[in-house]
Amino acid sequence: MEKMLREIRERMLKNIEEAKASSSLEQIRVAALGKKGELTGLLRGMGKLPPEERPKMGQLVNDVRAALEAKLEERAAELAEREKQARLAAETIDVTLPGPERGAGSLHPMNIVLSKMVDIFVGMGYEVVDGPEVEYDHYNFELLNVPKNHPARDAQDTFYVEDNIVLRSQTSPVQARVMTTRKPPIRIISPGRVYRADEADATHSPVFHQMEGLVIDENITMGDLKGTLDEFARQMLGQGIQTRFRPSFFPFTEPSAEVDLTCANCKGAGCRMCKGTGWIEVLGAGMVNPKVLEMCGIDSTKYSGFAFGMGVERMTLLKYNIPNLRYLYENDLRFLTQYR
Ligand code: DAH
Repeated sequence: MEKMLREIRERMLKNIEEAKASSSLEQIRVAALGKKGELTGLLRGMGKLPPEERPKMGQLVNDVRAALEAKLEERAAELAEREKQARLAAETIDVTLPGPERGAGSLHPMNIVLSKMVDIFVGMGYEVVDGPEVEYDHYNFELLNVPKNHPARDAQDTFYVEDNIVLRSQTSPVQARVMTTRKPPIRIISPGRVYRADEADATHSPVFHQMEGLVIDENITMGDLKGTLDEFARQMLGQGIQTRFRPSFFPFTEPSAEVDLTCANCKGAGCRMCKGTGWIEVLGAGMVNPKVLEMCGIDSTKYSGFAFGMGVERMTLLKYNIPNLRYLYENDLRFLTQYR
């Protein structure tokens, strides 16, 4: 029995020493000291020993138990420390690794196009002028020769704030403001927001953007207007782009023209964007009506001028071949970040 005890002791100590994980220590403990463990089995068998040997053997078994327990404890501490170190090593953060990607922002396509529009005219010597979006009827209509009974003043088209105050329905009131406060020569553009009581659809929005242009000086002719818009069209959309003037009517210009640009999509061949015509209507323009000049305090016998108003949304759809106005307002990043 003594021999067996020694054997168990040596074998178990060796097992404990060689255990690789805290979990296997537990198995060893159960195998030696558990209810059905080897050592426990030996203790039970002591009943068969002659009584005089029992105390000695009991002492021996207890020694072995104590030795094993001490060894188990020691080894458990070692393994726990090793496992902790391994966990810490696995959790190490490498601060030199690249961080998560942060998407770079981009300008809204309309802002890109508007900046370009402004750049082109600034390059031709124009000055950028701002005007109020909440505007007097006087500037939005009266000084622009829009008589009281003109359909454009109908409450259906224009948002009225008060009897004589509107949300400007066009950027043209900036012309009137500039002409009443400055002396020629005048060469300005005025981009900004305008409002009309339209239902939103693929080509309409109750809020949209225009850019107004005005030139007043001696001897300004329709040829200057045509040359200016031709140059603008080429710089904006490319060399092959031309302008086409169609006779039209605006109360504040005489003569007036609707101006088409060569369809940038098909280069004039005819496609869906231009409904097969090869042209896209982009702006209204004309020679400033002498009546408007006089109302604004400019001598129409000495000075003449041209003016134009173009849609910024229109220009953006044209520039990027975008089929529906709504894309510009929906703030879908998948759409917006395509333009840089
Ligand atoms: N204000 C006009 C519109 O909103 C556009 C326009 C046409 C502006 C002719 C002008 C112009 O300055 O001369 O439809």
